[in-house]
Amino acid sequence: MSKMVVRPATADDAAEIARIYSYHVVHTRASLELEAPGAEEMARRRAEIVRRGMPYLVAEEDGAVIGYAYANYYRPRAGYRFTVEDSIYVDPARTRRGCGQALLAALIEACLQGPWRQMIAVIGDGDNAASVRLHERFGFREVGRLISVGFKLDRWVDCVLMQRALGAETMMSTENTGTVDSSVYSID
Ligand SMILES: CC(C)(COP(=O)(O)OP(=O)(O)OC[C@H]1O[C@@H](n2cnc3c(N)ncnc32)[C@H](O)[C@@H]1OP(=O)(O)O)[C@@H](O)C(=O)NCCC(=O)NCCS
Repeated sequence: MSKMVVRPATADDAAEIARIYSYHVVHTRASLELEAPGAEEMARRRAEIVRRGMPYLVAEEDGAVIGYAYANYYRPRAGYRFTVEDSIYVDPARTRRGCGQALLAALIEACLQGPWRQMIAVIGDGDNAASVRLHERFGFREVGRLISVGFKLDRWVDCVLMQRALGAETMMSTENTGTVDSSVYSID
């Protein structure tokens, strides 16, 4: 029986990550990027996230990468440094088999080990029921909807914001707020 494993991504996973992302860029509104980046660019993006100390994970089954997920800063300004945005992409041939769930569970767990307090899902297409349902299962709630802010594949796209706390008991506490190195917090 095949077994799914979630592990940190390495530079060697870039081609598979690019292959999976490319499908969603070209054929879906899950990402509002319009041109699929190649493996080199995906490797650069992964390295940047890892440099920031944030988790970048892949799910592997029978030696093949079937999905990936990462956390990144929600917004570039340093005042947002305790809030992360999650991203998850599953191989279109391997959806609905628990991969997204395994990746999101592991990503939340990894973020709970860091200083971050809130996780945001920016769902580029409000009609993306798979992503909305997946996030609901992990306690995310819709906190906003931006109407017709995107345009892709011949139609306007709403952006849905979903949010969950990372460790409810620390939501209002200012303990450990010095633990994000602001020299790492630099986004162009
Ligand atoms: C969203 C996505 C990551 C889900 O991955 P997945 O491996 O298919 O998800 P899972 O099999 O772990 O499903 C977990 C739960 O999510 C929900 N879900 C997943 N696909 C769904 C669908 N097509 N319709 C409704 N709910 C769905 C269900 O609640 C499901 O649980 P269930 O199968 O017990 O009902 C995947 O569809 C994907 O890569 N979509 C394109 C990229 C994307 O939208 N990413 C999110 C951007 S923030």
